[in-house]
Amino acid sequence: MIGTKGTVTAVNGNMVSVRFDGAVSMNEVGYVSVGDKKLKSEVIRIRDGISQLQVFEITKGIMVGDPVEYTGDLLAVEVGPGLLGQVFDGLQNPLPQLAEKAGYFLERGVYLDALPVDKEWAFTPTAKVGDTVERADTLGTVPEGAFTHRIMVPFNMYGTYTVSSIKPAGDYKIRDTIAELKNEKGEIIPVTMSFRWPVKRAINCYEERLKPEEPMVTRVRLIDTFFPVARGGTYCIPGPFGAGKTVLQQITSRHADVDIVILAACGERAGEVVETLKEFPELTDPRTGRSLMERTVIICNTSSMPVAAREASVYTAVTLAEYYRQMGLNVLLLADSTSRWAQAMREMSGRLEEIPGDEAFPAYLESTIASFYERAGIVRLKDGNFGSVTIGGTVSPAGGNFEEPVTQATLKVVGAFHGLSRERSDARKYPAIHPLDSWSKYKGIISEDKVTYAHSFMSRGSEVEQMMKVVGEEGTSLDDYVIYLKGDFLDAVYFQQNSFDEVDAAVSPDRQKRTFDHILTILASQFTFTDKNEARTWFNKLRQKFLDYNGTVENSEKFEGLKKEIAAMVAEQSTGIDKNAEKLLA
Ligand SMILES: Nc1ncnc2c1ncn2[C@@H]1O[C@H](COP(=O)(O)OP(=O)(O)O)[C@@H](O)[C@H]1O
Ligand SMILES: [Mg+2]
Repeated sequence: MIGTKGTVTAVNGNMVSVRFDGAVSMNEVGYVSVGDKKLKSEVIRIRDGISQLQVFEITKGIMVGDPVEYTGDLLAVEVGPGLLGQVFDGLQNPLPQLAEKAGYFLERGVYLDALPVDKEWAFTPTAKVGDTVERADTLGTVPEGAFTHRIMVPFNMYGTYTVSSIKPAGDYKIRDTIAELKNEKGEIIPVTMSFRWPVKRAINCYEERLKPEEPMVTRVRLIDTFFPVARGGTYCIPGPFGAGKTVLQQITSRHADVDIVILAACGERAGEVVETLKEFPELTDPRTGRSLMERTVIICNTSSMPVAAREASVYTAVTLAEYYRQMGLNVLLLADSTSRWAQAMREMSGRLEEIPGDEAFPAYLESTIASFYERAGIVRLKDGNFGSVTIGGTVSPAGGNFEEPVTQATLKVVGAFHGLSRERSDARKYPAIHPLDSWSKYKGIISEDKVTYAHSFMSRGSEVEQMMKVVGEEGTSLDDYVIYLKGDFLDAVYFQQNSFDEVDAAVSPDRQKRTFDHILTILASQFTFTDKNEARTWFNKLRQKFLDYNGTVENSEKFEGLKKEIAAMVAEQSTGIDKNAEKLLA
């Protein structure tokens, strides 16, 4: 089929207007010719025989009258074995290969195969000739790193088919036909190990969506205990520049209890993205000891790349996440930063001369953000297995002001909010998640009444601290002062976590529970001190011992020793237990 053709009538930054002759549809891919280069673009508006295309490349040199070819296909990604371990740009070009081919100053108009086409995969058929199959049914498997990659009936093959041939076990390339399927009209359709799926359409080949309930353990205490994230749930990390958003996502991508991590590095400065790219391959997976990259895909767009590609990169990332969910795997998608994507939306909306909403963002900002997060979820597949996509996005509001539209739109849809605070990061209290502003709607690893009780020391302690700033320490009662010290103790030994300490960097849920119970006993104990000085000195000593304890391997001799010393300190000073907490400690 020959696609529709058009000619450029206007160029406005990254947007070109094209007069066309024939049929063109929204989100269709077109190529704008400039010299001998063809630049990939997407139709974002059609009106009166003119289409507006956002160009995923620098538009320099495009002139009125330049020819455009429409493809008839929607913006899509290629899925199949070989995705894991790759670094792609927003259009799914493998970046290392692109650099090799086009040099480090990425040339425009160069598009490469997303998946290795010459690599052979050890295919084992699971379907037989004569089987009836539907889209997403498994035809066979290939090993991909530590996973069993399912070769499925392409998701866009609606209806029922009969397997008319299938290849025996052996090595095949992704473009080889591995099965032939006969449709209801008797036509034979060859199937390979890879296929394309449009990025803006959610993959929906599952039986049922479930409520996200099971915690996705991150091994960060403040998250798992106080502001948990559920498998298949959503959360956001807003924070000012330098507050630790990227570092927190890196820690999570390493330790989260999921199978696969997809990182969408979106629109941040090139230097920061390069750092991620350099660091990642060197990190080891704490569970397997192998390279973390083997279960990671990175989609990368820096602020120096054209803005339209930012949008492509978040959609590409979420589509790849859904693809692996379809194999019964738990996937975590981390997007850093969604604000850059929103800025790209604002830029394109301005070029389209749409009626602007709040702070010149388009009126559809909220619904677009919502439909992105809605692609998260835990699902039951046709074979009875479960798979999940959990989405965590950072937001980088100017000046750290959470009242701005992107943060507000995100807060409406996510299930947990980890707000980073400049005050805490300046004080090097990491992770800088604010313990009073943050929240979660999900169930964590520790019962809610215990968590609420402990958290009350943080909020009451902070009130006392605010009061002390006004009336001074002398004007504060000893009882209030002890509450402040308890809140401060909880903060220092539980909320804060040392990401450079081998033991403290990642804490198992079981250890979190034991440590938490230990701290709960201390918070609930009634202590008598003669004066504030004595109280402060005592808590300082306790805190130091507890930090050592946090950094010590459990059940070691040193650990048991510290545990005894802490218990003895508390027993010696305690005169009883808060009546309200007796039930919690039982
Ligand atoms: N958990 C942490 N532990 C230690 N240092 C941290 C931590 N989080 C952030 N930092 C420090 O803060 C710097 C900025 O963090 P980064 O994640 O790049 O900020 P953001 O992405 O919010 O702009 C890091 O380079 C690091 O020095
Ligand atoms: Mg960052």
